[in-house]
Amino acid sequence: MVKLTTANEPDFKTELGKLLKTNRLGKSIHAFDEQDSTQDYANTLPNIESVHGTIVIARKQKRGKGRMGRSWISPEGGLWMSIIFRPEFSVNNIIFTQFMGALAIAEAIVEITDIRCTLKWPNDVLINEKKVCGILVDVSLESKDKVIVMGVGLNVNNEASSVNDNLTDNSIIATSLKKEYGNKIDLVHLTKAIIDRIEYYYYDLLSTGKTLEIIDLWKKNSDIIGKRGIVYDGNEKVVGKVIDIDKDGSLLMKLDDSSMKRVTFYTNTFFR
Ligand code: BTN
Repeated sequence: MVKLTTANEPDFKTELGKLLKTNRLGKSIHAFDEQDSTQDYANTLPNIESVHGTIVIARKQKRGKGRMGRSWISPEGGLWMSIIFRPEFSVNNIIFTQFMGALAIAEAIVEITDIRCTLKWPNDVLINEKKVCGILVDVSLESKDKVIVMGVGLNVNNEASSVNDNLTDNSIIATSLKKEYGNKIDLVHLTKAIIDRIEYYYYDLLSTGKTLEIIDLWKKNSDIIGKRGIVYDGNEKVVGKVIDIDKDGSLLMKLDDSSMKRVTFYTNTFFR
């Protein structure tokens, strides 16, 4: 692992530190030129270093991880970041972390670029139906401590690689902000805007149990309701029309035989 500082590039950590005015997130930042995976790094930090609000960020990842065991291609120019939360709220509400993360990122993108994003269940951010960002939430439940690591993979100034998608069963087309915006984006300002929004959603809505508000806002920013989709519930392939997102975050589908099916997405949960 290489700690971040190169001669000709501004030090991302210093620049971000100067801009960030958050109260609780980002008080400790681990920044690297290169890391295997910020998610793995955050997940294996010893307790004493993985305090609530710690941010791990890398210019590029050699072995970036996506959801469902997929790899995540992470060249220089993208935002590859993992945030550690030590929530005081109930385990039942952890599921909403991914919804608030996607919302926060979509809002920060509008703020910086004026580009409107849509959200796809459970936690993708799309622009013009192309995936620009994915979120990976890992949860570790120790005897009494809960640790959430939220990984954000956002194609910013890098070439975007298409990935396989579990809602349509197709290879989803990926895009980058630079491609959609037509210009290079200031990564430090964008990162600051994202962390600001995540702090707002985490403290004002998630920690205070306003999960219905998160789901309502998420639905307002999504266009999957009413669309046909294919989704995997474990190994079971579910085909039908999306009817709604329930208050617990589950996807409600109407199948072709008119029966209803509820698909609940679980975060990667592990015990240690
Ligand atoms: C997805 O499959 O849609 C989620 C992708 C999440 C990628 C991010 S990049 C930062 C963090 N580190 C990783 O190895 N993965 C997450």
